Amino acid sequence: MRGYKLKTLAATAALLATTSLAHAEDVEVLHWWTSGGEAAALNVLKEDLSGQGIGWQDMPVAGGGGTEAMTVLRARVTSGNPPTAVQMLGFDILDWAEEGALANLNDVAAAEGWDEVVPEALQAFAKHDGNWISAPVNVHSTNWVWANKAILDELGIAQPTSWDEFVVALEAVEASGKIALAHGGQAWQDATIFDGVVLSTGGIDLYRQAFIDLDPEALVSDTMVEVFDRMATLRGHVDENFSGRDWNLASAMVINGEAAFQIMGDWAKGEFINAGQVPGEDFLCFRVPGSEGTVSFNADQFAMFGVEGDDAVAAQNAMAASIMSPEFQSAFNVVKGSAPARTDVPNDAFDACGQQAMADLAEAADSGTLIGSIAHGHANRAAVKNAIYDVVTAHFNGEFDSATAVQELVTAIEINQ
Ligand code: GAL
Repeated sequence: MRGYKLKTLAATAALLATTSLAHAEDVEVLHWWTSGGEAAALNVLKEDLSGQGIGWQDMPVAGGGGTEAMTVLRARVTSGNPPTAVQMLGFDILDWAEEGALANLNDVAAAEGWDEVVPEALQAFAKHDGNWISAPVNVHSTNWVWANKAILDELGIAQPTSWDEFVVALEAVEASGKIALAHGGQAWQDATIFDGVVLSTGGIDLYRQAFIDLDPEALVSDTMVEVFDRMATLRGHVDENFSGRDWNLASAMVINGEAAFQIMGDWAKGEFINAGQVPGEDFLCFRVPGSEGTVSFNADQFAMFGVEGDDAVAAQNAMAASIMSPEFQSAFNVVKGSAPARTDVPNDAFDACGQQAMADLAEAADSGTLIGSIAHGHANRAAVKNAIYDVVTAHFNGEFDSATAVQELVTAIEINQ
């Protein structure tokens, strides 16, 4: 009996040791990268970690822009069971840092020299009280147009270089019987279009005064009325089934030649790449006409939550180091459609759109025309962002006219500041 018991105890101890080691080496990652292009990019990270013996417990929460993911995260943390790492944007990271929920990554940041290579615009959201609490994965930007080149060629439409030319192009496509603007009627997508239209209409100054400074005069200005008028113009060029459509299905409409244009962040490019399409041959990428020279950015980061146990912390730090390695930054962002989150990654692996994204970001950062996306949590905290979502999407759906929209906007922002 005694021998049996000892044998059982030894076996149990060995199993626990193995299990606990295997379990601790896993990272549980909450994210919303569920489209084809996003999943392809995510696989680059999974494989990178697997090569280091770090297992991946996947926790996908579908829903573009991450609203649903943040709701699930709140529930997980409230139940005292946070994931190891969470895809997160801008001010949401700072909110969680202020709650004391995030881990300190200073050791890995110092070892890897993050302070020297991560742009200030990203450090503003990756550090709290001087401590690194998040690992930046990329830099996306939202004021992009994606165009089906065959349709433009067939209709003799040149790449629009002004808002008026863009409207003429939309009308020409509409007249041909094709869908002019592929769009998904979801608040975060309406707001994503809004980023580029504000920049196109009022430039970096209006954008900053109205949506960073939240200056009431800027918010109700005649220029802001014109912004909403332009949103109404775009509403007039979407198809009748746009409401509720997921963003990647709108991208697919441009990819397959059903529609000519989509205004969307450059994660859309990941869909074109995933479909085997080539910039300049199958599709065009260009800044929302009128917004050239400015960039509304949103950086995906993996916010690292406080975890227990040396092995769990070691796996979390290894994931952070992996994410920020130059090799990973190139391999991942080439697939994701974004630019690297560090300034020392060569652009030679990137296609023409990726190289333009990298050049635009560097130029905008140097000239003070790089600004946080309203739609993707880099301009304001969630309460203000969601208040803007509500007004933009209500106007887009025809609930009120542009003059009313600016009044609704200034009121909604004042209430939620
Ligand atoms: C953004 C995110 C991108 C992509 C997009 C669509 O907020 O930064 O990586 O996921 O949403 O869901």
